[in-house]
Amino acid sequence: MVERDRRLARDLRISAAVSEAWWRSGAIYQVYPRSFQDSNGDGIGDLEGIRRRLDYLAWLGVEAIWISPIYPSPMHDFGYDVADYCGIDPIFGSLEGFDRLVAEAHALGLKIILDFVPNHTSILHPWFAASRRSRFDPKRDWYIWRDPAPGGGPPNNWISNFGGSAWTFDEQTGQYYYHAYLAQQPDLNWRNREVRAAMHAAMRFWLRRGVDGFRVDVIWHLIKDAALRDNPPNPAWTPQRPEIERLIEAHSADQPEVHGVIAELRGLIDEFDNCVLIGEIYLPIERLVAYYGEGLSGAHLPFNFQLLQTPWAAGPIARLIETYEVALPEGGWPNWVLSNHDRPRIKARVGPDQARVAAMLLLTLRGTPTLYYGDELGIGDVEIPPDRICDPWAKREPGRGVGRDPERTPMQWDATAFAGFSTHEPWLPLTPDWRTRNVAAMRADPASILSLTRALLHYRRTRASLSIGLWRLLACEGDLLAFERRNEHERTIVALNLGAAAQVWSLPPELPKLKIAISTHCDRDGEPVGPALSLRANEGLALEPI
Ligand code: NOJ
Ligand code: CA
Repeated sequence: MVERDRRLARDLRISAAVSEAWWRSGAIYQVYPRSFQDSNGDGIGDLEGIRRRLDYLAWLGVEAIWISPIYPSPMHDFGYDVADYCGIDPIFGSLEGFDRLVAEAHALGLKIILDFVPNHTSILHPWFAASRRSRFDPKRDWYIWRDPAPGGGPPNNWISNFGGSAWTFDEQTGQYYYHAYLAQQPDLNWRNREVRAAMHAAMRFWLRRGVDGFRVDVIWHLIKDAALRDNPPNPAWTPQRPEIERLIEAHSADQPEVHGVIAELRGLIDEFDNCVLIGEIYLPIERLVAYYGEGLSGAHLPFNFQLLQTPWAAGPIARLIETYEVALPEGGWPNWVLSNHDRPRIKARVGPDQARVAAMLLLTLRGTPTLYYGDELGIGDVEIPPDRICDPWAKREPGRGVGRDPERTPMQWDATAFAGFSTHEPWLPLTPDWRTRNVAAMRADPASILSLTRALLHYRRTRASLSIGLWRLLACEGDLLAFERRNEHERTIVALNLGAAAQVWSLPPELPKLKIAISTHCDRDGEPVGPALSLRANEGLALEPI
C-alpha cells in the first residue's frame, strides 16, 4: 500500500470512530428573535412566534436553533446588553413561554441553543448599579474601573467596537469604566472569581431548564491584559474603515488566560448530557484553533467565520478549507458560517446565483454548518431608509457601511400583510419582493432556493459521508472547485462552478461512475455523468456513485 492509501485508510477509521453527536452531524439555524415571527402584533418577533414556526424548522431539516439574546434588556444593543441573566424580556415573552418552546422543540427533535453574553452586562444590571455606587462596594471589582491617565483622560487608548474611546468617566466615583462595546455595555472583570461563579450559576439555570448549549458572545474578549497596556496602531487602517480597526487588539482580547476561563465553562457544560459550547471568535485560523483548548478542553465549536471574509473564488476558498483542515487539532470538529446578524448576508456579498452555490458549499463541507434565518429565502440586504436605522453602531459611525440592520430584517412567511411576520408594521422593512420571496410561495416552487436548501439539508442527513466523513480536494481549476466527502462506506463528490461561464471538469479516473444527486438549478437529479462533467454557469452539483 502506498503511503497515501495507508493514510486514507487510517483517516477513514478515525472518521468512522467520530461519534455522531448532534452538534457534529446536524445543522444549526440562527434565529434573530426580533425578526422571526411576531405573535402579538407589536411588529417585533417573540418566543411564541418562534414556537409557532417550529414545524417549519423541522420541515426544513435543521437540528438545532440558536436564538440570539432574549434576556431582560434595555435593548441598547438589541439584547446584547443583559440586565438579568435568568429571565426573559417581556418583549419576547416569559419563562413559561420559554419552557413551552423548549418542550415543543424537543418533541420535534429540535435542540435549543441560547446566546449567552458574559463579557459585559447592561448598564442597568443591578451588579453594575452596585459597582458604580462606591469604590468600596463589594461589587466594585466585578467591572473594570481605573483612575484617569496621569495627565487626565482615559486610562489607555483602547477603542470601543462601535467607535470612540472604550472608557467612560463616571463622575460619582471619579474613575473610568471599560466597555468594549457601548457605554451602556460595561465589561465584567472575568479575573474576579465571584463574577465567574455568578455566570456559572446563570448557565446552570438554563441548562437545568433543558437548553442544549450556548453560543457564547465574544468569548475571546473575556480576559484583558492585566496591565491594560495600550494597543499598537494598525498601519493598514484608513479613515474610511471602522474606528475599531485603527488599533491592533493585541492587549484588549485573545489573552492566554482566557483559555482557562473557557475550560471552566466547558467543564460546566460537560456536567450536562449532550450539550454544546460554541464560541464567537473573530480571529485568523491559527489563533482561532487554540480555542478548541488544550486536549480539547475548550469550545466544542469555535465559530469559523472565515467564509464571511474570504474572496468568493475557487482558489481562495480551496486554500481556506485546506488551511483550516490542517490547522484543526486532532479530534477538533470543524464548523462553517456563511452569514449572521453582524455581517452582510451571503446574497448581498455574492449575488443571487452564487448564493445557491454557497448553500451547497456550506451544506457539503466537513463540519457543522450554521445557517442564518432568511438565507434560505435568498433575502439580500434590505436598504434601510435613514429614518428607520436602529443599529447603534450605524448611528455612531455613519457613512462607514457598518450598519447591521440590513441583515436583521423580518422573515417573510407568506403574501399576506407584512409577509405574515406581523399584523403591524415590522421594526425593520421587508424586502421589496416579499410578495413572492416568502416561505409559502417558495415552498411550492421546487426550483426555489428554499427547496434547494431543504433538499441539501435532508441529503446531508441521510449521508454519513457528508455529515461526518472526511474532506479531500479533487480540483481547483479556474472557477471550478471540486471535492470529495467520504467515510468507510460511502462517497459523495461535490463540484461547484463559482463563475458565470459554463465549465467542463474531466473527472479523475479513480472516481467511480457517478450520477447527479442534486443540482443547484434543481433540474438534473438522477442524471448519469460521463468522464467530462459539464457545469452550467453558477451551478453546483452533488454527485454520488451509481
Ligand atoms: C457580538 C454580537 O454578535 C453583536 O451583535 C453584539 O453587538 C456584540 N457581540 C456585543 O455583544
Ligand atoms: Ca411581538
